Order: sequence, then C-alpha cells, then structure tokens
Amino acid sequence: MTEREPLLIYGAGDHGMVVAEAASTRWTVAAFVDEYPKSTSIFGMPVMTSIEAAPDALSIIVAIGHNMARRRIFADLCGYGRRMVNVIHPTAVVSPSALLGLGIYIGPHAVVNAQASIENGAIVNSGAIVEHHSQVCAFAHVGPGAVLAGRVHVGPMSLIGAGASVRPGVSIGDCCTVGAGAAVVSDLPNGTTAVGVPARSLDAGARGDAAARSGGQPLADAVVVSPEQAASDL
Ligand SMILES: CC(C)(COP(=O)(O)OP(=O)(O)OC[C@H]1O[C@@H](n2cnc3c(N)ncnc32)[C@H](O)[C@@H]1OP(=O)(O)O)[C@@H](O)C(=O)NCCC(=O)NCCS
Repeated sequence: MTEREPLLIYGAGDHGMVVAEAASTRWTVAAFVDEYPKSTSIFGMPVMTSIEAAPDALSIIVAIGHNMARRRIFADLCGYGRRMVNVIHPTAVVSPSALLGLGIYIGPHAVVNAQASIENGAIVNSGAIVEHHSQVCAFAHVGPGAVLAGRVHVGPMSLIGAGASVRPGVSIGDCCTVGAGAAVVSDLPNGTTAVGVPARSLDAGARGDAAARSGGQPLADAVVVSPEQAASDL
C-alpha cells in the first residue's frame, strides 16, 4: 500500500478542522500550526505554535477562514520557501480545463466548471458552484452553496456569502462582501458589502474603507503561479 504524504495544516480553527477532514483521504495530517491555539491537539494531532520545528519539505495548506489573514500567512510561508499544496475534497468535481493556483481548498460537492480559474489561496466551500470561465481571484472565498454563474469575476479577498448567487458576467471587485443569500445582478465596486435580492450596497464601499477594515494593509496583489506549476501540485 502506498504511504500517504504528510501534510501540515496552518490554522487550527473551524476551517482548519474542515480542511483536515477533506485532506484525510489523500494525506496524513502530521500536525496543525496556530499562533493562537485554543487547544494543544486536534483529532489526536499536535497543534504547534510555530512552524520552525516542521521539516522544510513538508507540504502545507493555510486553512484560515479570514481572507486577509490567510493571505498574510501564505505570503510569509512562500517567502520562507515552504511547499504549498491544494486540498480538494474527493467529492468535488473540478473540470480538467480549470486553472488552479496553489494553496486552494475546494470542499465537498463543490463544482468548478470548464475554463474557470481558482487563484492562489482561494476557497471554494462545500457545495459551491463556480461555473464556466469564472475567475475566483487570490484569497477570495466562495461560501457554502454559493453559485457563480458563467464568466463571473470575484476580486481578490472578496467573500461570497453562503447561498448567494451571482448573475452571469458580473464582476465583483476586490475585498467585497456579498451577504448570505444575496443575488448579485450587477457589478460591485471594490470594497462593497452588498446584501439582499437583488443585492444592494450596505455601506459606502469605497476601496479605502476596505483597506481600513483589513487593518490598513494594501489590497491584494495576486501571487501568480504558472498553470504547469499548479498542475504538478494537484
Ligand atoms: C453581509 C454581512 C457581512 C453583514 O454583516 P454585518 O456587517 O455584521 O451587518 P449586520 O449583521 O449588523 O446587519 C446590518 C443590516 O444588514 C442586514 N443584513 C445582514 N446580512 C444580511 C443578509 N445576508 N441578507 C439580508 N440582509 C442582511 C441586517 O438585517 C441589518 O439590517 P438592519 O440595519 O435593517 O437591521 C453578513 O450578515 C453576512 O451575510 N455574511 C456572510 C457570511 C457567510 O456566509 N460566510 C460564509 C462562511 S463559511
């Protein structure tokens, strides 16, 4: 029997547990890392507070639900030369023509259809549908059961809430939040929070507001990985 490769899960919160379970059919979860752990072990695996003790060659996924925090840790780990991998639940359906970045999570029963792209560090959560030619930019999160119809663009670090749907061809800017259950029928500028059916902006939604909400850090610049490199990590 082939031995499963060990995997380190960075993030020991709710999302970390979800990713660990999804990973368990392909990997052996060796440990969790969390700067602020709530417990010393999860599923019998140790929770370390620093990655320094972990071997350099160990595969890692950053499993932190907060988009900005996930981006920060991902960038730090890449800077240290750590090996980032994707976790794709075995029941997810991912088109062979989809482009996948690195460090992404695709949950149970999610669908990523033809020519869609899921960029580095993005999350396509349980049962979400990313239809053909849609683009989920780096560190964005498509929530459980959300539906992106064809040719939708979701900007870096945006969150599409649970059960929301986005009309074909709509572009959602950087650092937007789409409320749970919303129906987005027109483009959203950077930093918008929109709720309802049809979705309406909840606030002024200026780009500067989004940066302020995220602790004043600069807005996303996607970490680009060649399709060849990404494919070799699947
Ligand atoms: C949109 C959202 C971010 C707003 O959160 P918030 O800034 O804390 O806003 P509040 O809860 O204070 O609500 C503000 C107003 O918007 C309304 N509202 C909030 N979320 C709504 C939603 N999803 N649909 C419709 N109205 C909503 C509230 O009823 C409230 O209305 P009021 O001012 O008339 O009372 C949040 O409610 C939401 O839907 N998040 C999505 C979470 C999600 O699905 N994550 C996936 C994780 S796996």
